[in-house]
Amino acid sequence: MTLASSASVDSITVSSTSPISESAVAEAVDAALAAAAAASSLTDLKAARSAHAGEASALAKLNALMREVPADQKASAGKLVGQARGRVNQAFAQRESELAEAETAARLAAEAVDVTAASSTWRPGARHPLSLLQEEVSDIFVGMGWEIAEGPELEHEWFNFDALNFDEDHPARAMQDTFFIDPPERHLVLRTHTSPVQVRSLLDRPLPVYVLCPGRVYRTDEFDATHLPVFSQFEGLAIDKGLTMAHLRGTLEHLARIMFGDEARIRLRPNYFPFTEPSAEMDVWQPGAKGGPRWVEWGGCGMVNANVLRAAGIDPDEYQGFAFGTGIERTLQFRNGLNDMRDMAEGDIRFSEQFGQVL
Ligand code: DAH
Repeated sequence: MTLASSASVDSITVSSTSPISESAVAEAVDAALAAAAAASSLTDLKAARSAHAGEASALAKLNALMREVPADQKASAGKLVGQARGRVNQAFAQRESELAEAETAARLAAEAVDVTAASSTWRPGARHPLSLLQEEVSDIFVGMGWEIAEGPELEHEWFNFDALNFDEDHPARAMQDTFFIDPPERHLVLRTHTSPVQVRSLLDRPLPVYVLCPGRVYRTDEFDATHLPVFSQFEGLAIDKGLTMAHLRGTLEHLARIMFGDEARIRLRPNYFPFTEPSAEMDVWQPGAKGGPRWVEWGGCGMVNANVLRAAGIDPDEYQGFAFGTGIERTLQFRNGLNDMRDMAEGDIRFSEQFGQVL
C-alpha cells in the first residue's frame, strides 16, 4: 500500500514514502458514502456502518498503518485519515437521523388512531331464537290470511279460565300451576296459556275470525331442563261457518311441514281440554330427529267448545271452528335438537349466535 505519486486530498499532501495512499483513503471514503446513501433502513445502515467505519473496515486498516508512517509525515497522514473518518462518521450520522425520522413517520402513519372514527370493536348482536321462531310462525299464518292477536300477560281469571269453560272447581284450574295475584278478590292471574286471547279476539273482532296469538305465559314450574316458569306459546283460532276437524288437521300439517320439513306428519290423539270438544293431543312425526325418526308430543287442539262461543256471544249453531296451542320453547327444542331449555332463558349471546346473526 505505497503511493506511486503524491496526490492531494483536502490540500493535504502525503509524500510517496508514506504507507497511507491518498487514493486508497479517497476510495474508502467514496465507498462508505455510497453505502450510507444506499441504506434504506436503520438495519441496513447499521450493517453498512460496521463494514465501512467499523474495526475491520478499509479506513480502520489505513488508520492502523499510521504506525508505519515516517515521523515527519505523521501529522499530514493523521489529518488525512482523521478527516476521512470524520466525513464518513458524519455521513452515517446524518443518514441515520434521516432514516430514523422516516421510520418514525411511517410508524405513526401506520398506527394512527382516528379518535373521531366509530369504534371498530362493535360486534353485531344476534336476535334471540325464540323471537325468530315466533316471527316465523306468525309469518306462516299471515301468509294464509290470518291476523296476529295479542292480549295482556296479567289476565283476569274470567278470561284465563271461566270463559274457556273451566268450572269453578275444575281440577284443570289447579292443573295449570297458576300464579294468583294479590289481593284475591281482584281475580287476577299471570296468564297460564295464550288461550284467553281466543276469547278476547272473539269479543273484539267481527266474524269470521282467523287469529294467531303468540305470547308469554307463566306457571309455577321448576326451572329445569324441560320446564321454565316463564315461557311462550302460540295459539291459533279459526271461527267461521262450516269449519271441521279436517280444516284443523290441514292447517296443522301445513305448519308442521314448514317447521320440521316436507316429510313431517301430524297425529291426533283423543284428549281432554275444557275449551274444545272434541279435543286432541297433537303429535308431530319428525323424520330428521336426533337419534332417529319419532313422534313427539307437540301441543293441544280441538273444535272450539260451544260454551266458549256462547261466552263470547256467538251462536254455536251458526259458527264453529277450531283452536290449537303449543309452546314456542318446545317447538324450538324439537326442531333444533336442544337438550336444555334453560339455555333459552339465560341470555348468553353465544347461544343466540348459533341461530345466525339476523339483524
Ligand atoms: N292452552 C293449552 C295449554 O296451555 C293448550 C291448548 C290445547 C290450546 C288445546 C288450544 C287447544 O287452543 O285447543 O296447555
